[in-house]
Parts: sequence; structure tokens; C-alpha cells
Amino acid sequence: MTVATSMRIGQRSTLHNDLRIALPPSDLLLTQDEEWCVVRLNGKWREIRLHDYDELFSVPGLYERLIYDILKCDSPARIRKLFEAELAASDTQAGTLRALDLGAGNGMVGEELADMGVEFIVGADIIETAAEATRRDRPGVYANYHVVDMMRLNQSDRCELAEYGFNCLTCVAALGFGDIPTEAFANAYNLIEPGGWIALNIKSSFLDQDDGNGFAGLIQSVIANKTLEVRKTQRYQHRVGTNRQPIQYTAIVGKKRRNVREEMLT
Ligand SMILES: C[S@@+](CC[C@H](N)C(=O)[O-])C[C@H]1O[C@@H](n2cnc3c(N)ncnc32)[C@H](O)[C@@H]1O
Repeated sequence: MTVATSMRIGQRSTLHNDLRIALPPSDLLLTQDEEWCVVRLNGKWREIRLHDYDELFSVPGLYERLIYDILKCDSPARIRKLFEAELAASDTQAGTLRALDLGAGNGMVGEELADMGVEFIVGADIIETAAEATRRDRPGVYANYHVVDMMRLNQSDRCELAEYGFNCLTCVAALGFGDIPTEAFANAYNLIEPGGWIALNIKSSFLDQDDGNGFAGLIQSVIANKTLEVRKTQRYQHRVGTNRQPIQYTAIVGKKRRNVREEMLT
């Protein structure tokens, strides 16, 4: 059994609230991928792009303060709430889950899973800084943490991950943009055993129209051909942007029925 972290969720906002952060003017039009802030570090203001996770995770507390306290990100808590409700409705104990947390970052989602009673959680992220930040900020949440590019899994990573026998995949705030592409998501999805639980979110506009990242087509086809049996979807406010306007995401909780096949990715 893994040991849940001693830093509980309610304490998050009181940590590192001495960090000085300023957002750009609210009338500056930036895409989500272009968003930035400035942070006072070692006596100097430094500009940091919100999608530069290496920079964000290397400063203790910066990700939590900026994304969760200032920009009001609700996604890990929202996914947890919806997932818990679906587990309860199907009489499934969280303790029976063996979860892969894809795009785990510094462990915010792992922390929610541990808090709801999931005892075996493995994190996976493409950057080493995320693994280091997890060891620093939430030690003990993950049984193991793999630094891998899910898109280009080598044979040994694939075998190691397959041996865990996952029956649950979580992927929060990590699909699309320069983050996790459809192929990487499919690789992770195919590591989950049939009948396993899937809990994810994605920017709603990525589902509404094909914007080139391929998720609209992929999600529509996995739902239509019952590769994924959807139990719950919900559109909600993920966070506000640096322009202080709401950003809408869609949460999906369901059960995997079969693997994603290559032709679904095109
Ligand atoms: C916005 S963070 C989300 C972190 C966490 N899930 C949360 O909700 O706080 C997105 C994460 O996805 C990771 N990521 C991007 N591309 C990836 C890939 N191909 N394989 C694994 N992780 C990836 C990034 O390094 C980053 O840590």
C-alpha cells in the first residue's frame, strides 16, 4: 500500500502564498498556449509561460499558487467528484483500483486519488522536473513515477507499465496543445485492462470541432463504437485564463471496453 502525502488538499492555498506573481493585462488576447505571467524570484521579475512546465514545477508552490489559487483551476477536484460518484453508483471500491495517472505533473491528481482511497497509483510524465517536483511536494502518493514520452514508449517501458495490470487511467489537464497527443493517449489507454475505469478531461472546444489535434475525431469514434462506454460527461469551468475569462473543459468518466485501434487515430 502506498502512503498518502502529509500535505492535504485544504492546506494547499496557504503554502507559498508569499510568491509574488503578476498576470498580463486582462485585455491582452493570448491563446491558452501563449499565456504567461511574471514571478518575483531572487529579487528579479521573471516571465514564465504557463505551458512551460519545467519552469513552473522547478519553483516550489508556483504551480499551485498560479494555476489553482489565482486562476482557480477546479479540474482535479471536479474529476475526483465525478469519478467517486460513478464508482459509488457501480459499487466499486477505490481500493481495488490500480491507476495510471498520465501527465501526472507534480501529483495534484495522484493526491486526489490517494485521498479517495486508491492504494496503487503510478504517475507518468514526459519531463524529469515533474517527477522531481512530485518527490519534493507529494512524496509517497505514487507507488512509482515513470518519466516517459507516452508517444514513443520503448519496449522496456511498455513491458514495465503493462506489468502493473492497470484497471484505471486518469488524465487531467494534459490532452492536446503541445501536451499529450492522440497517439500518446492511445498508448496509455491500451495499457488499461478491458473493464477498467477512465477519467479524463479535455478542453471543450477540442471536442466541438476538429482543430487539428485529432481529439474531436478520436473521442467521437471511441464513444460511438463503444471502445469507451461513457458513464458521465460534464462541461464545467476548468479555470480562468490570464484574461480572467472562463475556460470550459469537458470531463468524461467511463469504462474501457476495448483497445483504441490505429485507424481511429486518423
Ligand atoms: C497541465 S499539466 C497537468 C498536470 C496534472 N495532471 C494536474 O492536473 O495538475 C500537463 C502535464 O502533461 C505532461 N505531458 C505532456 N506531454 C506528455 C507526453 N507525451 N507524455 C507524458 N506526459 C506528458 C506535461 O509534462 C505536464 O506535466
